[in-house]
Parts: sequence; C-alpha cells; structure tokens
Amino acid sequence: ALITLRQLLDHAAEHDYGIPAFNVNNLEQMRAVMQAADETDSPVIIQASAGARKYAGSNFLRHLILAATEEFPHIPICMHQDHGSSPAVCQQSIQLGFSSVMMDGSLEEDMKTPASYEYNVRVTKLATEMAHACGVSVEGELGCLGSLETGMAGEEDGSGAEGVLSHDQLLTDPEEAAQFVKDTGVDALAIAIGTSHGAYKFTRPPTGDVLAIDRIKEIHARIPDTHLVMHGSSSVPQDWLATINEYGGDLGETYGVPVEEIQEGIKHGVRKVNIDTDLRLAATGAVRKFLKHNPKEFDPRKYNKAAQDAMQAICKARYEAFGTAGNA
Ligand code: G3H
Ligand code: 13P
Ligand code: NA
Ligand code: ZN
Repeated sequence: ALITLRQLLDHAAEHDYGIPAFNVNNLEQMRAVMQAADETDSPVIIQASAGARKYAGSNFLRHLILAATEEFPHIPICMHQDHGSSPAVCQQSIQLGFSSVMMDGSLEEDMKTPASYEYNVRVTKLATEMAHACGVSVEGELGCLGSLETGMAGEEDGSGAEGVLSHDQLLTDPEEAAQFVKDTGVDALAIAIGTSHGAYKFTRPPTGDVLAIDRIKEIHARIPDTHLVMHGSSSVPQDWLATINEYGGDLGETYGVPVEEIQEGIKHGVRKVNIDTDLRLAATGAVRKFLKHNPKEFDPRKYNKAAQDAMQAICKARYEAFGTAGNA
C-alpha cells in the first residue's frame, strides 16, 4: 500500500532504524528493490529524480510504482519525488499521486546556484503548505551537497552546485536547521555533511574531516524530533568498481560513504538514506561481466536479469545493515 514519508519515518524513529531510498528509472531497478524488500520484510522508499522522469516518463514511473503496490500489497511503499527544483514541480508530482516530495531549495531553480536562506524558506514553505493540504509529505534540504576536499558538488552530468563551495555552505548549521524546520514545517530534512552525488565522493577512504558524522550528532542534539536525510550515500563498493574495470570499464579510484558511517548516522536521527549510484555500479558491472562471459547471448532479458540480481543483493544488504529488515 502507498504510505507517506512521514508515516514511514515516524515508525523508523520510534524503532531506531533507517530506510534506504532507492532511485528508480526502469523495471529492473523496481523489481530489485521490491524483491529485496520482500525477502527482508522491509518498508520501501522509492524515488524518482528529474533525470528518471526525463528518461522513463512520469507516467511510466508512476505505473511502475503502482504495479509494485499491487504485486506486493503487504509492503508499505512511499512514492517519493527526489530533488524537486520548484513548488510547481512538486505540485505536478502531488497531482500524479506521489505520497511524498522533496523540495530542494538549497539551490535555485536552475539547480546550480546556491540559494539564500530566504529563498529556500519561501519555496519550501510554499511546497509544504501545498503538500500537506493534500496529505503528502515534504523533505527539504539545508546546506549544499559537495566535497569538503575540493568544494565541488561532484556530479558532472546531473544537478549540483556550480563552482567552489565554502566550508559554511558544505556543512548544515544546527541552529539554522532548527530555524528552517520551524519556518517551513517540513517532515524531513536533508543535511549537508560532505557527501556528494555520483561515484566520485572521496579520493581516499573518508575520515571525519571530509565526512562530518559529528555534524549529524550536533544537528540531532539540537532538533531531536526532526527526521534527518543523508543524500549522496552510496558506498561505492570496491568489488563492483574492480569488476567494471576488469571487464572493459574505465573508472578511476574513488570511495563512497562506508555502511558503518551510515549506521552511526542512523544512531543519531538519520532515517532516510538516498542511494542511486551503488545500483548503477552493480548493474553495469553485472552486465559487462555477463556479456563478456556469454558472447553469443543477445536476449536483453538475460543481461538485464544479471543486473537485477546484482542490484537486489545491494538492496538486501542495505535493508539489513540499516535495521529496515523486519519492519514492513
Ligand atoms: O539526485 C541524484 C540522483 O542520483 C538522481 O540522478 O538525475 O541522473 O537520475 P539523475
Ligand atoms: P548517490 O549518488 O550517492 O547514490 O546519491 C543518490 C542521491 O542522493 C539521490 O538523491
Ligand atoms: Na529526496
Ligand atoms: Zn540527492
């Protein structure tokens, strides 16, 4: 059944666990997430990005998610819109039947220019009033995702701040976070702690100076009742990087957010953990390997199934590691 983000995260907070929010673009990702949730008895947050809507089309995504509610009626599913760039974008998703939307006012509508606090409050409050009137949840974001090593947002192809960000922009301020939640009424708050979107997050296994788990603790201490969200939380599995490169890929050395650090965040108020890149890496590694080992195969169902199995294993591991398992 469809459920709001608020309902899911309230339960997660009460029982001290986190929920991975996986991005969906196609059938194989949808099945991977649902089958892993079914295996582990986990509630689901499935999210559609602007890129996903462009790739698959909003209606196809919507029906993929609705199909999941029909095939898995015993699993609570939150249908979430990832990184909305304006209240109008959120309004469209609400109209389509999404049970939760993210209003990302940390950047202006171009999703490149860091926004002022006042702008962020204005658009997030507007989206929240609209969403709440329709029984839909809202996630806001305060602070800009980006690397504390370089000041860069990371993602070359997608959205993310342009130019070099300051230390202040890259770390959410606890006092400002308290004011923001009060000013906007959001159900969940995405915070900046040094993570960024995509595969290239850290040039070495991250330590506290580049992955500010302590900042989560400070924010949680200030606003213990607010559900925190970690974006850019793929772990970038080294074994999948190696597989991709072994079978013809060319990815550079890079490190993600270790699962143990996410677990530490979950002990301090993190309830939603956004993961997209890990599924992309697993799918690519599995397809490259399958095609190399099966050069005569040309049925897409064969290699897409290999991708699905690889993604499903990652989903299952995250449901177990975050304590989501058993809570459907
Ligand atoms: O927000 C970042 C997600 O990884 C979505 O990326 O816009 O390329 O689908 P995308
Ligand atoms: P990753 O790129 O680390 O998977 O982050 C995804 C994300 O934050 C989507 O909003
Ligand atoms: Na989101
Ligand atoms: Zn994100």
